[in-house]
Formats: sequence, structure tokens, C-alpha cells
Amino acid sequence: MTEKTAELKKQFEEKIAQVKTTADLEQLKINFLGKKGQITALMQGLKDVANEKKREAGQAINTVKQYIETSLEQKKEDLAKLEWDLKIQATPSYDESLCLHKEQGSFHPITLVQREVEKVFETMGFHIENYDEIVDDYHCFEALNIPKHHPARDMQDTYYLSTGQLLKTHTSAAQNYLMRKYGAPLRAIFPGRCFRNESIDACHENTFFQMEGIMIDENISISNLIYFMKTMLSEVFGQEVEVRLRPGFFPFVEPGFELDIKCLICGGKGCPSCKDSGWLELCPCGMIHPKVLEYGGIDTEKYTGFAFGLGLTRLAMMKYGVKDIRTFNSGNLKAFSQFKNM
Ligand code: FA5
Repeated sequence: MTEKTAELKKQFEEKIAQVKTTADLEQLKINFLGKKGQITALMQGLKDVANEKKREAGQAINTVKQYIETSLEQKKEDLAKLEWDLKIQATPSYDESLCLHKEQGSFHPITLVQREVEKVFETMGFHIENYDEIVDDYHCFEALNIPKHHPARDMQDTYYLSTGQLLKTHTSAAQNYLMRKYGAPLRAIFPGRCFRNESIDACHENTFFQMEGIMIDENISISNLIYFMKTMLSEVFGQEVEVRLRPGFFPFVEPGFELDIKCLICGGKGCPSCKDSGWLELCPCGMIHPKVLEYGGIDTEKYTGFAFGLGLTRLAMMKYGVKDIRTFNSGNLKAFSQFKNM
């Protein structure tokens, strides 16, 4: 009988190792512990065992029966845990039922206008670059011919970090980096977020986007600059737009210009969006100062270049008729819903 119980135990262990579901387990239980099961059969066989061996045989059967019962219980728990884990894995980590409307998102209008400008310049052979938002004093000012204590630094109220670095006040901060990285000839645009500690109104934000552009090559002149600016604006607006060019001072260009666009919100009559002037400063530009080229390692005997700093956020205002620049950072989804499908 001891051999029979040992054999049964071995059989049971082989079978339970193959069990994958609670249904299989239930069947196994019936096969071994059921009325017509193998343990019952062993019990019934006890009557044929010699009297002096009955006690020992009975104990052996009971021991294997208990072992089977405990193993089945343990397996039941293991299977339940496994099924629960599988269920958890198959359940999304978010609650779908929270979404009451199937709301379609939209691109931010500044992203849309940025992409349009990028497309225009890409077709004219410019490549798109990225640059950091946290920069150092050298790149933001000194390499742009704005030495320490130069009054031009007052033009931009800077957010300084405790590390001595600063939040870039203009995309021009990348000029030196790109000249050093690529040398001349060079055609690149680089969009980016800028930060200035400014008083906020309908056309000034403390966080706004610019798109810088530089072109350095032999014989680059102001006419090249004007051509590229006009092409970009007529492509982005899909029509000729009225612009004016007036002298402007920036230590990193010589000569420098302010390129203004006739306010498309009021048609030039004057409104809060253009500070009642009828014009909006959009894209200062100029011929890169030879000192800035030298700082960038460019041979000034051979190369000249132009640079511009397009106000992307203001361009988005004009293009989409957004009267107040603060709308862009407001996070007001209702205001942006009109840009779906664009
Ligand atoms: C500059 O930032 C120069 N780096 C631009 C430049 C580049 C000049 C290359 C010459 C050559 P300015 O501070 O004027 O310039 O800013 C450029 C444009 O950014 C402005 O014309 C305007 O469109 C936009 N801008 C400036 N300040 C703000 C502001 N607070 N909120 C929204 N847009 C702004």
C-alpha cells in the first residue's frame, strides 16, 4: 500500500504541475478526491490489506490525501492570483469612463505659425536648429557685442538663475553657438521661447516665442535681407502685407532695422493690440556686426551676413486675428478650439 500511495502522490504531482486554469484544477480534484476518485479507490482497497498492515496503510492513504488537499488549496490560491494579475495588466491605467466627450485636441496657434515659417525657410535652403532655454551671459550678451554694463542690456529685463545662468531673453543667444558649430557659409533658422521680466499688456508677454534667422555667405547684402523677409511674410499671410522698415539699434547688427507690419487687427487705425500706433514691431533685423562674426570664428574679409529676430507670438496674433497676446499662454481651450483640423 505504501508503494501505491507513493505512486499516487507522484502521479498527482505530475498532473497538478500541468494545471493552468481553475476548471482544470476542479477536474483534478474530482479525479483524486471525488467519490469515484483514486483516493476513494485506495480506501476501498484497504479491506484486502492484511490486518496487521491496515493501520499503517490507512495512515499512508490519509497522509497522501492531506497532501493532495493542501496542494489543491495552494494551487487554487496561485491561480486566483495569476488571473488577478492578468486582469490588472489588461486593464488600462487610466479611467476611460472619466472622459465624458470624445474631445479632439488641436495644435497651439504658435506651433502652427512656427511650422509655416519653417516650411518657407526650408524651401529656401535654411535648416532648422534648436537651442537651450537656459543659457549663459556670454552667449546671450557678450558674444553679441553687448559687453557687461552696456546700456543695451537694459532693453531686456533678464531672469537670472542662482547658478549665474539666465533664461534666454532672445533667440539671438544661439547665433555664436551656430557660427562656431557650422562656420560659413550658413543658412539657419532657430525658433525658441524667450523670457523677459516685462510689464504685460495686449502685445507684451513675459514668455513669448521668436524665430531667429541667419544667413552668412559671400556678398550678402541688405537686398538679400529684404527679399527673404518679404518672401516669408507674403507666404505666411498668403497675400502682400504692408510693412515698413526703419532704422533700429541693436549692438549685434550694423546697420540695424525695425521691420513693422501694419496692424491687421485694426487695419492701421490704432488699437490696444498695436498700442494705438497702427503698426506692430514684428521682425528686427540687420547686417551682422563684424565683431559678432569674429566672435563666431567667421572670416570677415570673405563673409558678410544678415540676421533677423521674428516675433513669432506677434506673428500668430496678426495671422489669426488674436487681439490680446495673453490669450496664447492662457490655456483657454475654448479659444484654441478653432484651430482644430489645421
Ligand atoms: C530682439 O530680441 C533681437 N534679438 C532681434 C534681432 C535679431 C535684431 C537679429 C537684429 C538681428 P526685440 O527685443 O525687438 O529684438 O524683439 C524681437 C521681436 O520679438 C519684437 O519685434 C517682437 O515681435 C517680439 N517681442 C519682443 N518682446 C516681446 C514681448 N515681451 N512679448 C511678445 N513679443 C515680443
